[in-house]
Amino acid sequence: MIRLGVLVSGSGSNLQAILDAIAREELDAKVEVVISNVAHARAVDRAKAAGVPTIAIDHRTFESREAFDAAMVESLRAHGVEWVVLAGFMRVVTPVLLDAFKHHVINIHPSLLPAFPGVRAQKQAFQYGAKVTGCTVHFVDTGMDTGPIIGQRAVTVLETDTESTLTSRILEQEHQLLIEVLEAISDDRVELEEAETAGMRPRVRVKAPRVG
Ligand code: GRF
Repeated sequence: MIRLGVLVSGSGSNLQAILDAIAREELDAKVEVVISNVAHARAVDRAKAAGVPTIAIDHRTFESREAFDAAMVESLRAHGVEWVVLAGFMRVVTPVLLDAFKHHVINIHPSLLPAFPGVRAQKQAFQYGAKVTGCTVHFVDTGMDTGPIIGQRAVTVLETDTESTLTSRILEQEHQLLIEVLEAISDDRVELEEAETAGMRPRVRVKAPRVG
């Protein structure tokens, strides 16, 4: 079983997907704590409804991103967290968090990175006229949505789509992809390999689940 800390800022539908998968005994994990930088985010209500400890840490009350991260690290460690999941978390994290949980911080992003990093990725793809977009789960590094990719799912942009219908369909895939990746992590099937040759980025290998 892996012990998760989930960082949220808003709706928390990805958090809900994790909680539901655990409740269905589909995911061998425990959400030890949910930390929100927005006190009254719906994600906090979702955590409380599931009996998960929640902590609101308002980033605006810290003099630096590093100090904010240090406060989160203290709470995460106090709850025995092993893996940190950014799920709809809208803050850029610093080496203070990344070094404390080295290669154990992942993020879900609503586009096929490296396309459309940053905010409103669904809107970026829609406005660009992309025919295929999707979602990505990746290890977090110091960049903006630039860490090694663990998994992706493609979503076709339909002629009838609006930004809203596309966003909803991507979100459905995010929920499934996030659980798939967390199951692989829980089964110890995810390996982050250092770049082998010049020009190559670190590659993530995800072994297939054992059958039977
Ligand atoms: C999702 O598309 C997520 O990828 C993005 O914010 C959206 C809402 O996430 N970062 P959630 O419902 O708060 O999990």
